Amino acid sequence: MKSQKTHFTQSFFSLGAVCLLPVVFCCLPIAFSQAPVPDSPAIEAQAEALVAKLTLEQKIELLGGQDNMFTRAMPAIGLPRFKMSDGPVGVKTWGPTTAYAGGAALAASWDPALAHRVGEGLGRDARARSVHFLLGPGVNIARSPISGRNFEYFSEDPFLNGIMVTGYIEGVQSQGVIATVKHYALNNQEYNRHNVDVEIDERTMREIYLPAFEAAVTKGHVDAVMNSYNLINGTHATQNEFLNLKVLKDEWGFQGILMSDWEATYDGVEAANNGLDLEMPSARFMNAKTLLAAVRAGTVKESTIDDKVLRLIRTELRYGFLNRPQFDPADASYSVADRAVVLDGALESLTLLKNEGSLLPLDATKIKTIAVIGPDAYPAVTSGGGSAETQAFEPVSIVTGIANLLGPKVSVLYSRGLPEIMDLFTKTRWEGGVHVAVYPSKDFTGTPETKTQPDIAAMNERSQRLDGTGPHSLRYTGSYKAAKAGRYLIVSSSGPWGRDEYKVAVDGKELPATTHAEGQVPESWTLDLSAGQTVNVVVDYLPGSSVVHFGLGIASEQDLIPNEAKAMAAAADVVILSVGFKPETEHEGSDRTFELPWGQDALINTIAAINPHAIVTLTAGGGADTRPWLSKVPVLLHTYYPGQEGGTAVAEVLFGKHNPEGKLPVSFDRSWEENPSAQYYYPIKGADTKLLITENDKPPVERVIPHLKYDDRLMVGYRYWTTTGKHPLFPFGFGLSYTTFSFANLQVPATAAAGSTVAVSFDVINTGRVAGAEVAQLYVSDPSAKIGRPERELKGFEKVRLAPGEMKHVTINLDARSFSYWETAAHKWTIDPGKFVIRVGDSSENTPLKADVTLN
Ligand code: BGC
Repeated sequence: MKSQKTHFTQSFFSLGAVCLLPVVFCCLPIAFSQAPVPDSPAIEAQAEALVAKLTLEQKIELLGGQDNMFTRAMPAIGLPRFKMSDGPVGVKTWGPTTAYAGGAALAASWDPALAHRVGEGLGRDARARSVHFLLGPGVNIARSPISGRNFEYFSEDPFLNGIMVTGYIEGVQSQGVIATVKHYALNNQEYNRHNVDVEIDERTMREIYLPAFEAAVTKGHVDAVMNSYNLINGTHATQNEFLNLKVLKDEWGFQGILMSDWEATYDGVEAANNGLDLEMPSARFMNAKTLLAAVRAGTVKESTIDDKVLRLIRTELRYGFLNRPQFDPADASYSVADRAVVLDGALESLTLLKNEGSLLPLDATKIKTIAVIGPDAYPAVTSGGGSAETQAFEPVSIVTGIANLLGPKVSVLYSRGLPEIMDLFTKTRWEGGVHVAVYPSKDFTGTPETKTQPDIAAMNERSQRLDGTGPHSLRYTGSYKAAKAGRYLIVSSSGPWGRDEYKVAVDGKELPATTHAEGQVPESWTLDLSAGQTVNVVVDYLPGSSVVHFGLGIASEQDLIPNEAKAMAAAADVVILSVGFKPETEHEGSDRTFELPWGQDALINTIAAINPHAIVTLTAGGGADTRPWLSKVPVLLHTYYPGQEGGTAVAEVLFGKHNPEGKLPVSFDRSWEENPSAQYYYPIKGADTKLLITENDKPPVERVIPHLKYDDRLMVGYRYWTTTGKHPLFPFGFGLSYTTFSFANLQVPATAAAGSTVAVSFDVINTGRVAGAEVAQLYVSDPSAKIGRPERELKGFEKVRLAPGEMKHVTINLDARSFSYWETAAHKWTIDPGKFVIRVGDSSENTPLKADVTLN
C-alpha cells in the first residue's frame, strides 16, 4: 500500500521538481523508497563524492544545527536543511497533533506490535509536518519514581525497554522518518541534569542502563542517537569516548548520526574527537572558530570531520531526503486512524491495581448518578510537561469519556475538587501584607531594596523581571493568622525548569524539603494550628534567572474541598476520583514529588468518607505515595499518561467494555525511601568538583559538578525486591483483569549447550468468564553463577489474548544473552555453565511455573 503511494510521489517529484535539484542529484541512479534503504557501496560513493566537494569550512558548518530544530543547509552541494520535532509521545513542535499513549503507558501494554503501530502513527504525523527527524523515543531506565521524565521513558527493565523501543523505532523509520533514541546515557533523573556526574561501574552500565540503547541500534537500526546532558564517570556524554566511540560506534556498529541534547555540548574539540556528529540546537562549540584552528593545529583530524559529515549525508541519502519531498499529502496532519492507535494504546496500558469486592466492572444499567471529581478529571491530561508535552487535537478527558460512554440516561456530575493553585495563593490573607527584600547578591547580603505588598497577590509573583543583570536573592516575610483550629496546608511553587531554589521557615523553623532538593514543582506541608494562632512565614528564594516566579499560600484543609464536591459525592452511586500529576507537577527539567500534589490526599480521604464507592484513577509516570488513602478506597486504576483518548479508555475499562490488561512497567513502592535508589539518589555531600567551560573567545565559566554514585548498582526495581525477598506495594509486571488466567505445562530442556538457543514453552489458559489478555513473563535465575546476580531477570514475555476457556501454547526462545552477565575483567558477556532456573508467571513475584535447565 505504502510503496504504491511512494512510487507516485517519486515520479511526481522526478517530473515536476527535477530542475530544482542540482545536477548531481538529477543523475543519481538510485531509486529511493519511503523507508530507508540499507547503506550500500552506491550510497557510500555518493556520500563521499558530496563530501569531497566541500571545503573544510563548509564541512564544519554542517556540524551544528540552526533555528532550534533544523540541520544546516549546504547550497553548494544542493543540500537543503532538514527539520526536527520533539517527541516522543507526539510530533509536538509544529502545532496541534495526535498525543499517543507513550513512554510508561506504552511499556505497560507490554505489546511491541502496539509500539510499532504508535511508531508508524508518529512517522506519518511527522511527514505530514515535513519533519525528517523525530526526537524520540526516550529509553532511560526508570530508576526512581521521582525522576521527572519517567512518563516519557519506558520502564525499569532493560529487556522490556529493548523490545518496546525496537518496535517503536521500526514503526517511525518505516515511514521515512529518522527516529532519535535519547538520552544516551545515564540521564535517570532531572535533578541538576546539566551538571551531575554519574559514577557507575561498567557491569551496571552494561546490564541495566545500556541494553535499551543497544537494542535500539542493533535490533531497531535507529539512525540517530541523542547524547544526554550529564557527565558519566567524569566526562560529559557529548564527549565521552567510552560511550560514543567504543560502545556505540565501535561495538554496536552505529553508522548513523550522534547529536547532542539541546545545549549539551561543552567542548568543541573534545566533542569532535569523541564521537559527537551534530551539535544541537546550534554550533556553539563545534564551530569554525574552534575546529578550524584545531584541524590546523592537528588536534582534530580532518578525517574525523569528514566522518561526521559522511554520517549526516549518508543517512539523509538512505532516507531519500534529497530525492523526495518529506511532506506527503497522503499523510494527514490529523487522522482518525491515528486516534484508533491512541485508543488502543490507552486501552492496553491502563493497569488495575486494586479491585476490592470486584466493584469493577461497573454496571451502567444500575447507575443513575456518577460523580467525577478531581484535578485530573478535566481537562484531559495526555502527557507530562516539557519538550514532550503535546497540544493534542481532541483530547478526551475522563469526565467526557464517561459521559460519552454513559449517554443521556445517567447524570454525570463534575467538580475539580480542589482550588487552582493561583486561587490558593491569591486568597491567602497575610496580616499587614508581605514584606519583600531584594538583595543584590546570591546570599542575602548587601543592602536590600524593600517593599511591602499589601494586596491579595502578596506572596504570588509570576514572571516578574528583576532590575539589573547581577545576582539576586529575595526574602519574603509574612504573618498568617488561623481563623479556626485544625490542619492547614502550606503550598508553594517556583519557576518551571528547576532553576530556582527556595527554603520556607515557619516560626523560625525550616520546613524540610519533600522528596526532592530543588524547589521546582509545587511543594506542600501540613501544619496543625489553633484558632487565632499566628505564624510567621519567611521564604528565602534564589531565582535561577532574572525572572522571579514564586508563590505561597496557606489554607485550612477543612475549607479546601469545595462543598459542591462533597454534595456530589453524597448524591452519586459511584465516584470516580481522578488524581495524580500533570504537566505542571511532573515534567522535564526537574523531578517530581513522590507524594501526590498538594491537597489530593485530603480530597480522596474526604470523598471516600462520604461515598464508599470511590474509585481512584491515578495519572503518573510511575508510582506515587498511596499510603494516606489506599486502604480507604476499593479501586485503584493506574492510567500513566494515556494520550488523547485516555478518557475514552478509562470509561471503557470502568464499565467493562474493555477488560484491563496493562501490567506495571515499574515496581510500585510504598514510600520513596524504600526505593533502592533513594539513598544514592542525590549527590554525595561535600564532593562537588569544579569544571571550567570555555566557549570560543569568551572567558571561561566555572560549573559546579556534583557527583552521584550509582551504588544501588544492579538492584534496580524488581531486581532489588526479588533479591532481598522483600515486597513492594505492587510488583513489576502486576496488573488485575476481570477474568482469571492459569499457566501450565512448562517445558524446558534439561540440558543445553551454553550459548545455544533454549526453547521454553508453556500454556496460558483463560479460566474465567470474559475475554482478556495476559502477559506471560519469563524470568531467568542463575543460582550457580560465580558472581552475584540479581535473583531473577526478565528475559522473555508474550502478550496472549484469550477467549473464555481458551488456551494458547507459547514458545519463547532464550538466546545466549538471556543467560549472560557482564564480566568486567574480561570486558565481555559471559555464561557460567551450570544450573539456571526458568520461571513463568504474571508478575515478577507471581511465577507459578518453574523448571531448571543446565547449561554446559
Ligand atoms: C530535551 C530533549 C529534547 C530537546 C529539544 C531538551 O531539553 O532534553 O529531549 O529533544 O530539548 O526540544
